[in-house]
Amino acid sequence: MALQLGDEAPDFTADSTEGEIHFHEYLGDGWGVLFSHPADFTPVCTTELGRVAELKPEFDQRNTRVVGLSVDGLIDHATWNDDIEEVTGHRLNFPLVADPDHKVADIYGMIHPNASDTMTVRSVFVIVPDKKVKLTLTYPAATGRDFSEILRVIDSLQLTAKHKVATPADWRQGEDVIITTAVSDDEAKERFPGYETVKPYLRKTPQPS
Ligand code: BEZ
Repeated sequence: MALQLGDEAPDFTADSTEGEIHFHEYLGDGWGVLFSHPADFTPVCTTELGRVAELKPEFDQRNTRVVGLSVDGLIDHATWNDDIEEVTGHRLNFPLVADPDHKVADIYGMIHPNASDTMTVRSVFVIVPDKKVKLTLTYPAATGRDFSEILRVIDSLQLTAKHKVATPADWRQGEDVIITTAVSDDEAKERFPGYETVKPYLRKTPQPS
């Protein structure tokens, strides 16, 4: 069965561009993003990996380690890295797992046989410090992902893990948030003084710090 939200992210040991990686150990006490690529030397993937390398400081700021995966071998990954740098101006600065036997792709359900028997789809898993999966995304091969959106989701996940709030549509860091329905009005007055009631079930408050 496909991995679902709240499931434990399967641990694995695999070769990567930064040496052998023990996934859970590599994530340590921090957050993680595991994302897959259909294959090496493909155009969309080249742009995606350069973009993630460019955004690496943003993931670092969020105490989040990124790990990519492609179902080719390490020699291809190394040669492709030169292309990624040439095309995007950014070299890989995070591990890219080599998964030629689909060991990791299979346990994460990254191969969707009705899309392709051999290539992974563009999967994204956001993993929290207790190693539970908090977000899954699946994109087709021909559509590159918006990695700013993944950062936005991590901001929301980290905020809502700490405070009894939820984030509305298109929310960005610093904008108003929603008080969860589990919070009574009395508790809301204490925790979020001056909050606004739009509907009894929709109460807004400035983003807690
Ligand atoms: C790409 O990365 O451009 C790509 C990969 C596999 C199939 C189609 C496109």
